[in-house]
Amino acid sequence: MLFRNIIMTTLKRNKARKIARILASTFFALLIGLEILPGWLWSNTAFADAPEPTPDRLAEPVLTEHSTQYEEGRYLYWMHCMPCHGDFGQGLTDEFRELWPEDHQNCWGRGCHGGREMDEGFPIPKTIPAVISESGEVLPFSTPEEFYEYLLTTHPPQNPGYLAEDEYWAMTAYVLAENNLIQVGKEIGPNAGILTGGKILAVCAIGVLLLLVFVVVGYVRRNRQDENSDSHEDGEKTLLID
Ligand code: HEC
Repeated sequence: MLFRNIIMTTLKRNKARKIARILASTFFALLIGLEILPGWLWSNTAFADAPEPTPDRLAEPVLTEHSTQYEEGRYLYWMHCMPCHGDFGQGLTDEFRELWPEDHQNCWGRGCHGGREMDEGFPIPKTIPAVISESGEVLPFSTPEEFYEYLLTTHPPQNPGYLAEDEYWAMTAYVLAENNLIQVGKEIGPNAGILTGGKILAVCAIGVLLLLVFVVVGYVRRNRQDENSDSHEDGEKTLLID
């Protein structure tokens, strides 16, 4: 009787386990199905063939009041350099000109930069060189200062020296970083490395904190010493009484 009971409960337990296993596998199968099926259905709908929105290569870069020198340079490049040297520094290529509205694609046409009497714009040469490449070999300068001086004295060609000095440095930093010649975010120029307001504040705050720590540690130590000397006195007294 006992033996039979044991067999029955084992059988029941096995059955329960089997059911649990089946339930678990169904659950996981459902999970996987739910994960894959919509993707499969989705990929078979017209949506999947919809082209990814192409980024607007001529879009204005974002600039905030906390922008770094690099970001400022990127913005200034877009504003003052990109129309001639291309959105990624490739130069005034046909491919780049085709990004513009149709009536803006011929830079040397009548009424544009052809240099004729009725042209509104200043004349520009037929070829405008690339200024950005992966290894930086397109830049004929050996130091950031040399590049900065070149820009300051020759650019923009229609009005050299027109921008502020820190703006020339920002564009120099941007173009050098894009050429992988300096790190993105590295500041250059006469003001680079000089403590700015925020940094001065941070240094002062750390100084005050350190001072506070010293004062507190000193205070705690002195209290401990006092306590120790108190207990010494007690000890001596008991000795005396003894
Ligand atoms: C109006 C068109 C125009 C604009 C705007 C312009 N450039 Fe230029 N840039 C030129 C031309 C043309 C040359 C070639 C000059 C030469 O060969 O003497 C040149 C040369 C350069 C060179 C030297 C490249 C080399 O291989 O010698 C650099 C670097 C450069 N430009 C950067 C800039 C930057 C940065 C800006 C933005 C401030 C800018 N340019 C704006 C037309 C332009």
